[in-house]
Amino acid sequence: MTRVLPFSDEAIGEAARLIAAGQPVAMPTETVYGLAADATDGEAVARIYAAKGRPSFNPLIVHVPDVAAAAEFASLSSEAEQLAARHWPGPLTMVLPLRPTGGLSSLVTAGLPTVAVRIPSHPAMQALLRATGKPLAAPSANASGSISPTRAAHVLKSLGGRIPLIVDAGPCARGIESTIVAVDGDRLRLLRPGPIDLGLELEAVGSIEAPGQLASHYAPSKPVRLNAERPGDDEYLIGFGDVGGDFNLSADADVVEAASRLFDALHEADSAAQPLIAVAPIPEEGLGAAINDRLRKAAAPR
Ligand code: TXA
Ligand code: MG
Repeated sequence: MTRVLPFSDEAIGEAARLIAAGQPVAMPTETVYGLAADATDGEAVARIYAAKGRPSFNPLIVHVPDVAAAAEFASLSSEAEQLAARHWPGPLTMVLPLRPTGGLSSLVTAGLPTVAVRIPSHPAMQALLRATGKPLAAPSANASGSISPTRAAHVLKSLGGRIPLIVDAGPCARGIESTIVAVDGDRLRLLRPGPIDLGLELEAVGSIEAPGQLASHYAPSKPVRLNAERPGDDEYLIGFGDVGGDFNLSADADVVEAASRLFDALHEADSAAQPLIAVAPIPEEGLGAAINDRLRKAAAPR
């Protein structure tokens, strides 16, 4: 069952309780409705993908209440600080170098060394950020492949029955997703056009919408063998269920837990002593399909 509650202190209290319990909650922002979950909790982030029915993992935008909260897990150059001062809170997302010690789940960034961050201005999202005290990962609150929701009714139509709560604050003021700009030192690259015009040309590559666009620098540097029941002599085995391995994605064979640990496993395997990587079979059900999509890309010849 999906409840729809009008924005109020009680609704934010209920949303915060669900977030603390690891559930995703649909929240209004000034751009579009977002499906928010605790960005430090890998299983909570995996439940976002499960609810959206996404067949692959796409890095997500992390929402924070202020610049100090962003600086916990992202590095802001002076250029980034200037953009923040000018446009935050508001519909600007900055892709910044990730601080690996900042506590974000690696599923949020899909294992990338960068993180997309924004400070939303909407009072409901601000209230939830302050109530939870957590950075909140939130993609648009629609099922994979459908259009972004600008009203609670759109979210209900797309995700009804798949999420516990929608906080309704009426239509979104902007109605289109945030501008995304990558900030690397003093270099700016526009990845997605949006409400904020920075006078930049759109990058040919754009934002990482298709998983195939994910930069190869985070793919493992070693050959990967799939559907391995046991490791060969030179292989680091990523296990699942009864296939133990050097790093088990989920001893209980739970695909949500496995998704939350996938990118940690790939990084571990890549830095291990063994020159080769093998991965146990993962069932194709639910999030297993997204895990297998990622693994097939890791195993594809480069
Ligand atoms: O207005 C918005 O930005 C809304 C609200 C809810 O905040 N959110 C939103 O999220 O549009 P989503 O997941 O639908 O779009 C996020 C975009 C994707 O194209 C993704 O590839 C890109 O941001 N992205 C996220 N992290 C990135 C990274 N580290 N590098 C490059 N692109 C990234
Ligand atoms: Mg979207």
